[in-house]
Amino acid sequence: MSRQLIAGNWKMNGLLGPGSVLAGELAARASAGTPPGVELLVCPPTPLLYPLAVILKDSGIALGGQDCHAADGGAHTGDVSAAMLADAGCTYAIVGHSERRADHGDSDAEVKAKAEAALGAGLTPIVCVGETGEQRRAGETLSVIEAQVRGSVPDDIGAGGLVVAYEPVWAIGSGLTAKSSDVQEVHGHIRGLLKALFGPESGAAIRILYGGSVKPANAAELLAVPDVDGALVGGASLSAEDFWAIAAT
Ligand code: 13P
Repeated sequence: MSRQLIAGNWKMNGLLGPGSVLAGELAARASAGTPPGVELLVCPPTPLLYPLAVILKDSGIALGGQDCHAADGGAHTGDVSAAMLADAGCTYAIVGHSERRADHGDSDAEVKAKAEAALGAGLTPIVCVGETGEQRRAGETLSVIEAQVRGSVPDDIGAGGLVVAYEPVWAIGSGLTAKSSDVQEVHGHIRGLLKALFGPESGAAIRILYGGSVKPANAAELLAVPDVDGALVGGASLSAEDFWAIAAT
């Protein structure tokens, strides 16, 4: 199994000044040594990508976009193509985050097209899935997740690799986290699907991240869950100290 991926999703937070300071703090910590067995990734807002690429250069910390358009270019005001993310220094792109699904109506088919565009630009897509609180209470969690994985994950991931992030919508920004047993139930189900889709070896090598109120206090328990291969961290990634504490768990 590849290294654990600890990814920070800054969402719509961070101006050039404080964002550069935060990235500089992370780069300084990384130069003193990244925690063993951990790969670090920072996904800032789009205007900060290139300046952060400069700051993080040679730090070993990877850079990712928070979304990309499915098309290579053209009349799509306000959107960013996967090639533009790669050009700015990214190696990853988050697609299908529940906030994009909710705010922008991104469907599974659109998420899949975005993930394919990311792969086409040489990026590793991080495909996000997650059930709402209502769906969990109705006992629909596994069927919702299965439909999202089947609908959003590209049919052919080639050599580009893929990451799946399980982020229960009710756990995002709420301070609530899923119980370890519930996390393993969902991650195990996703693992089974990935093995069925891509074969036992490739399916086992795809990293499945957990996201939703991950912080230093709960990271050890969540990262110890067998099919959890890392974390997608929102709020706590805005503090170098907290992000590093999660990575060092
Ligand atoms: P929080 O860690 O703030 O709950 O956000 C999780 C998330 O949505 C990461 O993509």
